[in-house]
Amino acid sequence: MVGMPSPDTAPAPADETGAETGAAAPSAAPHPGRSPLPAGERERVRSFTLRGQTRMAAEYDDLLAEHGHRYLLDVPAGPSTASIADDAFVDLDAAFGRRAPLVVEIGPGNGEQLAHAAAAHPDRNFLAVEGWHPGAAKCVGNAVRAGVDNVRILEADAAQALPVVFGLEVVADESFVAGGYGVRPDGTGATTGRVDPTRPGAANPRAIEVWTFFPDPWRKSRHHKRRLVSPLFARTVAGVLEPGGAWRLATDWRDYAWWMRDVVEGAEWFDNPHLGERPDPEDEQPERGGFAPRFEGRLLTHFEERGRDEGRVPHDVVGIRRETPRPL
Ligand SMILES: C[S@@+](CC[C@H](N)C(=O)[O-])C[C@H]1O[C@@H](n2cnc3c(N)ncnc32)[C@H](O)[C@@H]1O
Repeated sequence: MVGMPSPDTAPAPADETGAETGAAAPSAAPHPGRSPLPAGERERVRSFTLRGQTRMAAEYDDLLAEHGHRYLLDVPAGPSTASIADDAFVDLDAAFGRRAPLVVEIGPGNGEQLAHAAAAHPDRNFLAVEGWHPGAAKCVGNAVRAGVDNVRILEADAAQALPVVFGLEVVADESFVAGGYGVRPDGTGATTGRVDPTRPGAANPRAIEVWTFFPDPWRKSRHHKRRLVSPLFARTVAGVLEPGGAWRLATDWRDYAWWMRDVVEGAEWFDNPHLGERPDPEDEQPERGGFAPRFEGRLLTHFEERGRDEGRVPHDVVGIRRETPRPL
């Protein structure tokens, strides 16, 4: 995608808020949720970079001033980068002005897929969660051009924000959160896949589908832990989906595709309906398979097209949300 930051060429985590690039510190940026944690406390590790964010933000001021109120959700900021307040209540029915089957897209980038799908399915609500401010702004632009009203965009880190929006149970579970990858702003806390009825977001409708298309690949092995798709994230997605709902994933980086398949098949809340199908000869387990046919609702985005021009082949993976968790 033109203008997307590349995590694989990004500086080390500590530099991604701008220290190395000379960009402004988080608290000076226009993005909501940028006030830093108190000195000495760590933020959670994120799966996206903020490169170019401050520099590019002004380009979108006019667009957002005119149309932002129609599409961007106004949610109280949390204490760390791209986070929302832990007690924020996002009333999805009120935000969309109706209740309708809900699709959640995580990391929509510039929103090509989002706007296309929203135009094709006016009977559905589309919630997009994008952590990169220029991306969220471009989603607004694409929604405006498509003339759709059934799109809402939350500018936030989905790993932290989804448990709040959907009122998910969060527990201390060190096996999942070691190293600051947990769902709370300080990197602690793990979702369980269950709803916490005491949280306001518990009342929100669950999604019929969650989409994670072409998440940042974080190709260097020392960065793999930053990948959005993880066993912990699978639990969060399980909490967002209704039973029988589909988590649709796609990537054109082979090892990430194998990893996505492993995460879905290893998750207690998901079944892979394509078990053993479409084996990939280059897979470390070449007979194993587990890949879905291309999702017919998935647009060929500029991002995918660029990968194709570079010789990469997309893999689709699907997880179906179980009624109850499978004993592991
Ligand atoms: C490589 S781009 C792909 C965009 C789009 N899905 C496509 O296929 O064209 C990945 C996008 O996911 C976003 N992203 C990564 N991690 C995220 C997170 N934790 N929360 C929200 N957005 C995230 C990035 O900012 C980026 O816009």
